[in-house]
Amino acid sequence: MINENLVPVTIAGIGMYVPETVIKNEDIAKIVDTNDDWISSRTGIQERRVVSGNETAVSLGVNAAKDALAYAGISSEQIDLVICATSMPDNLYPSSACEIQAAIGAQNAAAFDISAACSGLIYGLFVAKNFIMSGTYETVLVVGVDVHSRFLDWTDRTTCVLFGDGAGAFVVKKSDDGINDFLSVDIHADGTKGKELKIPLYGKNCPLVEPNDEKKQIVNMNGKEIYKFAVSYVPESILNSLSLAELTIDDLDFLVPHQANMRIISAIKDRLKLNTDQVISNLEKYGNTSTASIPIALLDALDNNRIPDSSLLALCGFGAGLTWGTAVIRWRAKDQRKL
Ligand code: UT7
Repeated sequence: MINENLVPVTIAGIGMYVPETVIKNEDIAKIVDTNDDWISSRTGIQERRVVSGNETAVSLGVNAAKDALAYAGISSEQIDLVICATSMPDNLYPSSACEIQAAIGAQNAAAFDISAACSGLIYGLFVAKNFIMSGTYETVLVVGVDVHSRFLDWTDRTTCVLFGDGAGAFVVKKSDDGINDFLSVDIHADGTKGKELKIPLYGKNCPLVEPNDEKKQIVNMNGKEIYKFAVSYVPESILNSLSLAELTIDDLDFLVPHQANMRIISAIKDRLKLNTDQVISNLEKYGNTSTASIPIALLDALDNNRIPDSSLLALCGFGAGLTWGTAVIRWRAKDQRKL
């Protein structure tokens, strides 16, 4: 049941940014034993972007944040809180959110990071929505950024073909017209399955206590387990989130899934009996951009006029943790960039 006493919330802006360097499937085939046919048919991915030179997780996040603020037509001083959903920050501290806050001049905002891998943006929306609905804050910037290219084993064909770097952002705001567009957000975790998708972080003990070995901080993934997890848990989360909003799958206009893999997206679509044109995807261009993939896919669809005003959307994320979750929203954002 929706509590009438809560503050109504809307998404006022969306933004994205990807690095310029494009790596095509054929390029990866030059360094590992793979080919375009295997990657395209098993994943749907044709190319991805990777950071280079001075680009960092924060620089991508800053560009996506500026894009979302321009979309919303609001200034950085209006932001009360910056949340950065990232699992591969540039530093252990300060947080990426603090660095983004400084770079965009959001001096009135508190800032912290969330670590929920590919579900990070949904976790961020959940936190933002609750802070606004409770009356604590009016405007929250949620940035999602991951730079997997720095944490892949580029000799492991089972993982290095899957991921791309990118950033996405949402401006979540108290709704000016009193209409609540956040119908429900449902988040979950199962830490017992954490080992199936992991990037270990190796600190070093004091050398006076024991000698230190060099260990690699790279993606370790059990692809089959992640596939099984995604196709069983994610449809359930979408239905649960719709049910929390007193809606059914028949009310849904579009599904914007985390862009992990075309086979996973297709299996989720089939389980929910959705039409192909109801499912938003652009992973052929960017690969799996982790926490950033939902806004990157949604903004692409908006720019291509695929999402009519007032469409009912389910945004769903899933990934390491394991974590998963769905946000059911009414899309009414006006693109101030085009006005
Ligand atoms: O955000 C969540 C992130 N994770 C995911 O989305 C991953 C979910 N998992 C999957 O999507 C699939 O498990 C993969 C796409 C990763 C793999 O597909 P699969 O159909 O499960 O392949 P597989 O692991 O069963 O491997 C089949 C064969 C193997 O060769 P053999 O043992 O049959 O000779 C692999 O060595 O394909 C081989 N293979 C490759 N061949 C060419 C694995 N990766 C590659 C590659 N190129 N890149």
